[in-house]
Amino acid sequence: MGVGLEGLELPRTIRTREGLFNTECVLPAEQIQRRVDQMGQELAERYSGRGAIHMLVVLNGAMHFASDLMRAAQRVNPDLDITADHVRASSYAGRQSSGVIRLQCTPSDSLADKHVLVVEDIVDSGLTLDWLIPSLRAHHPASLEVAAAVVKNNPARAENILGGTALHAGFELGNDFVIGYGLDIDQQYRHLDSVYKVTPVTADVLATAAL
Ligand code: IMP
Repeated sequence: MGVGLEGLELPRTIRTREGLFNTECVLPAEQIQRRVDQMGQELAERYSGRGAIHMLVVLNGAMHFASDLMRAAQRVNPDLDITADHVRASSYAGRQSSGVIRLQCTPSDSLADKHVLVVEDIVDSGLTLDWLIPSLRAHHPASLEVAAAVVKNNPARAENILGGTALHAGFELGNDFVIGYGLDIDQQYRHLDSVYKVTPVTADVLATAAL
């Protein structure tokens, strides 16, 4: 069976470079699209009359969310001036955060006096934003806000980390590792339209299945 192609389900078990995982859909594609359309509308309203929105897309994960959000906002207000640039930051290897942020690509355009909207795939420990926000503030944007498709674990903690920077969250999820809609496991499965929780198939389960 094809994996994650439109209209096809992700199999209940997948083999990744990290081993075997059970999958469970936690955010179906239609629910994501409805919420992103709503976020686009809110975005268009929030920035109306304020000048251009400069989206700073955090790669690789935010690529789908950023383009959907951009188009949703533009549909509401076709006159909205949206520019986009990207940064590339990562702290993850497989399903584990290394705890160390690596910035592999910096913004190419100046941020000074721009209304900067950082677009993130997922906020987990908040480490990435905790590190990124002060370094962006140092470039003196006119305003700085964050839109994240998913906030994991504890949204209140994420907001604490961000201090005065507004965080607009698409969905709040628990502590599970999730893939799809830009989110990867070892760079795989970003293309999926829906978001799936993945849990490792343990040796016990395999032994029981073999009985
Ligand atoms: P934080 O720095 O802990 O907030 O994590 C931010 C980054 O970790 C995200 O931009 C993702 O790249 C990655 N990440 C955190 N949780 C997940 C997950 O459940 N699936 C895929 N990537 C994740």
